[in-house]
Amino acid sequence: MSISIPRAKKKVEKKPAGSGKKIPFQSPKGMHDRLPADFIYIDKIEKALKKVSGFYGFDRIETPVLEDIKLFERGTGLTSEVVQKQMFTVKTKGDGVLALRPEMTPGVVRAYVEHGLLHVVNPGKFFYMSPVFRYEQPQHGRFRQFYQIGFEVLNSDDPVYDAQIINASLKIFDEVRLKNVTVKLNTIGCKTCRAGYVKKLKEYYKNKLGLVCRDCVKRYAENPLRMLDCKQDKCQPFKAEAPQTLDFICNSCKTHFKSVLEFLDGAQVPYMIDPTLVRGLDYYARTVFEFFAEGVDFALGGGGRYDYLSETMGGPKMPAIGLACGVERMIEAMKLQNIELTTKQNCKAFLIYMGDQAKKQAMMLLDEFYKAGVPVRESFAKESLKSQLRLADKEQVHFALILGQREVFEEVILLRDMKTGAQETIPLKKIVAELKKRI
Ligand code: HAM
Repeated sequence: MSISIPRAKKKVEKKPAGSGKKIPFQSPKGMHDRLPADFIYIDKIEKALKKVSGFYGFDRIETPVLEDIKLFERGTGLTSEVVQKQMFTVKTKGDGVLALRPEMTPGVVRAYVEHGLLHVVNPGKFFYMSPVFRYEQPQHGRFRQFYQIGFEVLNSDDPVYDAQIINASLKIFDEVRLKNVTVKLNTIGCKTCRAGYVKKLKEYYKNKLGLVCRDCVKRYAENPLRMLDCKQDKCQPFKAEAPQTLDFICNSCKTHFKSVLEFLDGAQVPYMIDPTLVRGLDYYARTVFEFFAEGVDFALGGGGRYDYLSETMGGPKMPAIGLACGVERMIEAMKLQNIELTTKQNCKAFLIYMGDQAKKQAMMLLDEFYKAGVPVRESFAKESLKSQLRLADKEQVHFALILGQREVFEEVILLRDMKTGAQETIPLKKIVAELKKRI
């Protein structure tokens, strides 16, 4: 028994009814849909994150998207731009105000302490891939909803973890084939020695306040360190001449930083020391760092030590270090570097039906394939043999399984080799085992 198969020709598909009409809504400003084509990149990044995390012993963590706003005011910090200008807030029925998390770190620290993990896993090593929200003016590489992948090592001040976090992040960039990623590194000292440095910085900027931008004047009063993070052109010459943290930090911070560098050297991790790197969130102390990729004009990721964050939020003393990378920025960099990703074709067969009886039988058969763990595609919405074959062709499957009324009646199915065109009739009962054998 054979069915003559029409050659699959390219044909302009008829548009479904009403396809010219649009829904009068769009995704909110600065927030994007993640479409199937994006997941070629997202899945690659997630796979890399899981591989590297698994190897270095980081466990996955997820916290609520909404948290008490005070967690970020105390944690991320009242003088940070993120808290001052970029939080989406939600008023609750009582007096409470929740905020859509603008970053993951304070929530992860809260969860670690709240669930007593502090006494169970020590240091706590966590990773995440989660959406965060910042009310920013959307622009190139800057969105209102974006995803971060990140690592946090909680309850350790050992410099080996500063180096491990940097090393593990570079492994992720490598896994997704990003080339020429550089890490810029600095130390901003501890609570004690930073005060002396900040005093020097204030003295330096005192007679320049009429020449720097308005934000820097505000930073001078609130958090002078952040003046070194200013991106305004007019402030750059002053940044370049400003006193450097490395000249003012205490011996203990110097030793810590030296050890970080030694661990990085030992692991042959290249880095650049950038004495003006300070980072934009309030909680950092000692090591800070950022990642950049060739051809990309924004940071792929950044992080550092936050040895006082837990205490600032009202928790126990708990030194820690972490980093986060922007997933959209990584994808942008992968595209700019022309990194081509191919999806692995894991489906080798396509189930085709003709007629109502065959459709019912095909539906049952698909379940048999599912139970046997044999992936098979279908397109039940298409009725004609031609259009189903065209799809099978497009999916580049090895086999088409064809079920017509007659096959249903005779309890057989046609197995067509899409490459050679050879066709065999197989008893319906044996097709699952037969296909399993051949793919
Ligand atoms: P962050 O530097 O604010 O650090 O953000 C980390 C990364 O998120 C940035 O380097 C960038 O790739 C991405 N990112 C930031 N803002 C946007 C935006 N508006 N649109 C797209 N991507 C963006 C933190 O969030 C810290 N929690 C990192 C950390 C973890 N420090 C210690 N542990």
